[in-house]
Amino acid sequence: MVEMSEPMLRELRALVGEHNVLTDPEMTRGFSVDWTGRFVGQTAAVVRPHSTEEVARLLRLLWAEGIPVVPQGGNTGLVGGGVPLHGEVVLSLAGFKKLYPVDSGAGQITAQAGVTLAMLREQPLKHGLTFGIDIASRDSATVGGAIATNAGGLRMLRYGDMAAQLLGVEAVLADGSVISHLDGLTKDNTGYRLHQLLAGSEGTLAVITQARLRLVPHYTHRAVGLVALPDIASAVALAGTLRRCIPPVEAIELFLQEGVELLQRHLGLPQPFQTLSPVYLLAEAADRTDPASVLIEALADINPDSILLATSEADRKRLWRYREGHTEAISRVGIPRKLDVSVPLTAFVEFAEAIPKALSEVSASAVPIRFGHIADGNLHVNVLHAAEEADVDGAVFELVAQFGGSISAEHGIGTAKKPWLHLNRSDVEIRAARAIKASLDPANLLNPHVIFSEPESVG
Ligand code: MLT
Ligand code: ZN
Repeated sequence: MVEMSEPMLRELRALVGEHNVLTDPEMTRGFSVDWTGRFVGQTAAVVRPHSTEEVARLLRLLWAEGIPVVPQGGNTGLVGGGVPLHGEVVLSLAGFKKLYPVDSGAGQITAQAGVTLAMLREQPLKHGLTFGIDIASRDSATVGGAIATNAGGLRMLRYGDMAAQLLGVEAVLADGSVISHLDGLTKDNTGYRLHQLLAGSEGTLAVITQARLRLVPHYTHRAVGLVALPDIASAVALAGTLRRCIPPVEAIELFLQEGVELLQRHLGLPQPFQTLSPVYLLAEAADRTDPASVLIEALADINPDSILLATSEADRKRLWRYREGHTEAISRVGIPRKLDVSVPLTAFVEFAEAIPKALSEVSASAVPIRFGHIADGNLHVNVLHAAEEADVDGAVFELVAQFGGSISAEHGIGTAKKPWLHLNRSDVEIRAARAIKASLDPANLLNPHVIFSEPESVG
């Protein structure tokens, strides 16, 4: 653990206030362990600044002493990228909760880094607008974290990823200097788009304090269809049919009977249909007028007994619970290996079906639970009961590479996936990425142990 001298702690307290520097292990534990409980770190101090000026002064102090820091938002990350696994100081942005007034003409908003995605979706509703990124951890996940991991989520199909919503940032570099680009110009080709570089940078290039974000129309009429299907191939084919209905289709999700069993056992959900089915697809359409007919038309070839359609908010939530409850039900069983991957849709069926065998070759006890954002080719392979020493991650990632996919569709590399970065990035790409890191953070103090395997000596 990075040692913090008493004089240093005194300086930090003078800067952000006594109660915003936590050192008691009881108090820092919640910031040191990730949501799943798989990644357990420790820290000498959690510092909670409340203004950009405080972040700048704080980073200047840490820079002068060569102290590494992990920026943290809602601590909902799943790849060990936001906790102090090497004893770093934690810089919590949780206090950055300000949302500025909606610019309804431009359809934009400026939000501080600690604003949750739920707040961001809610606040603009009175202007007929909302935020395009939606993830199950919306009540805790923050703007800063969503940018740092370039979140995708449930509605990416229609609105794109976090980078697509990002029009500018205010951020503090490792040496305490501030870059600020919050004017919201959508057309602005004046050299490098530094804010876009921060999307997916996992806290390694700068500490994001505010962002200018694009809003999307809020559609009041919604319909959700849950469809029981015989196999994954039928789900891919149906996702193709539904994709042709965009807009208004904005989500197409997949889960399997293996997940429904967990939902029954641990969350008490009933079987969705009278007869069991191996595969389920959930789709949501949203429009200015009732979009149910769009879904009904797209599902015309499906046996009506295999379709549940919901339009009221309560019924829609009930159907979504089958998809969104997966993470919770899985974590009730134990700590899973969370392997968030994507493959080209042409390879999706073969890949998804090959997983059980690939896993059984490395761990006889491993149980995969497969679900995800099928329209994006994004499968969440959560693996339970794997033998501790088994290279479950390697087995799945090698398979992903064989099918031309990505070892991280939306969760980032963090510490969990860095040994396999070479499966997706060439030596030249990694060298270029390291050069960017070294030029913005020459002392390698900002989240120094994520993305790249060994922190290279720089300078
Ligand atoms: C989800 O889409 O529910 C999460 O990204 C996946 C997970 O918890 O593994
Ligand atoms: Zn997901």
